[in-house]
Amino acid sequence: METTLLLLKPDALHRGFAGRILSRFEDKGLQIVGLRMLQMDAELAAQHYADHVDKPFYKGLVAFMTSSPIVAAALQGPDAVEIVRKIMGATFGPDAESGSIRGDFSCTKTYNLVHGSDSPESAERELALFFPDGNLDWEPTQGRWTRE
Ligand code: RTP
Ligand code: MG
Repeated sequence: METTLLLLKPDALHRGFAGRILSRFEDKGLQIVGLRMLQMDAELAAQHYADHVDKPFYKGLVAFMTSSPIVAAALQGPDAVEIVRKIMGATFGPDAESGSIRGDFSCTKTYNLVHGSDSPESAERELALFFPDGNLDWEPTQGRWTRE
């Protein structure tokens, strides 16, 4: 069982997609074990995007991500990291497969609606940033049908 971090970026909230996007992960059978609305500050953005600090898009990315509120979700399930990335689609909207969130809703590089941890190690690090008190351990009644 894995838990991963999903962020609904500012464009997802401005465009009114928060519910629809979260539904796709619930529909797949992933379980919400943490949910928070917040506005990232420069410090949190710097910690979260530490790996990208030397990239040319870093400054614009941090400006975008701190510009207005986001939603952070902790999603749990078998292979949650990989499943979430697949549902999100390729990084850039124009390249993303139709049927994925980015493929269906984004036609830009920067405004790609969602973030998902890219490995179990990243998930652990990122979850600690957004959910420092940990997540809720609960058993969904549908679990019998979404787990093996
Ligand atoms: P994310 O971290 O948001 O889940 O996306 P990702 O792993 O697919 O992509 P990553 O390489 O980690 O890049 C993080 C975010 O930076 C923005 N970006 N813009 N303009 C550009 O060339 C460029 N490259 C990256 C995107 O918003 C990307 O999601
Ligand atoms: Mg990434």
